[in-house]
Amino acid sequence: DRPLQIGLIGFGCVGQGLYDILEKLPELNAHIRRIAVKNPTKARPLPHDRFDFHADDLLQDPELDILVEVIDDPTEAFRLVSTALRQGRRIVTANKAMVARHLTELVALQREFGGTLLYEAAVCGSIPIVRTLDAYFSHEPLESVSGIFNGSSNYVLSRMTEEGSDYTPALAEAQALGFAETDPTLDMAAFDPRSKATILAAHAYGLLLEPEQVLNLGIENVTAQDIRYAAALGQKIKVVASLQKLPDGRVTAFVTPQFVAATAPLYTVEREFNGVVLEATYAGTQFLSGCGAGGHPTGSAVLADLVALRAGLRYSYAKLTTTEKSTYTTDLEVEV
Ligand code: HSE
Repeated sequence: DRPLQIGLIGFGCVGQGLYDILEKLPELNAHIRRIAVKNPTKARPLPHDRFDFHADDLLQDPELDILVEVIDDPTEAFRLVSTALRQGRRIVTANKAMVARHLTELVALQREFGGTLLYEAAVCGSIPIVRTLDAYFSHEPLESVSGIFNGSSNYVLSRMTEEGSDYTPALAEAQALGFAETDPTLDMAAFDPRSKATILAAHAYGLLLEPEQVLNLGIENVTAQDIRYAAALGQKIKVVASLQKLPDGRVTAFVTPQFVAATAPLYTVEREFNGVVLEATYAGTQFLSGCGAGGHPTGSAVLADLVALRAGLRYSYAKLTTTEKSTYTTDLEVEV
């Protein structure tokens, strides 16, 4: 078979993780042919001549079979991904903020122009949750999907719990380890897990939500005393994202710090790990956990998408019965 020619846009934590994994797995016959970066002068672990500096050149290159977009900026990411989809191309992204914000358009562009977008790496790092929902549970109603969707805030809470660390040094550690977003407020105030919950709402329930329709509360106000109080009750404080079907069929969606009992699967999810609990109507409860952040785990999810694209996979979006934005419980006017 002809080697798969990949165009990589962005060479941060995830891009470098993917690059490194592909170097170690030559048997995959998949090569990063061109790499585009924003800042050509930055010191990098590869020679300078390895980098093209214009992502648009990669979009125009017909020799590239698949594009991988792993840049930080959601606005530029959407411009690149939507341009690629208009060309009917195959592209992988890890940009959760971009996918969550633009999912309606991204689905429409794929349907109109025949291109394909996969984004497993955008949700919970290495955990194969998007495809699990989209493919394996495409036909089955789900009672709830909940979990720990942010490695950085979970890391900070774990460090505060284990060592009695303070918030600020624990956050600095998460940043140094490469888990946190460039703007760590996205992690700590739960904007990042809100994006991930928004994406999963489409695959689990066929809901096209705006991220703002998902309530998010972060850990900025969680104190060492709160953590000790939880521990005294045999519990832990975790930032839990929750999509829950109500008896009347509506779905609630929120991300908030919660007390998690020692008997709950999420109690065991520590540090940069993520966990997802699915309650399926007939299959029953499933629990997936794995590394939610970091170059290799997230790069591995990108790689899984590359291999899937080579084999012709597309998301089914089986539960999306309309491409209209979904109205939702928090849109109801409530008298107080
Ligand atoms: N900042 C994110 C996290 C990275 O901490 O989970 C993975 O999306």
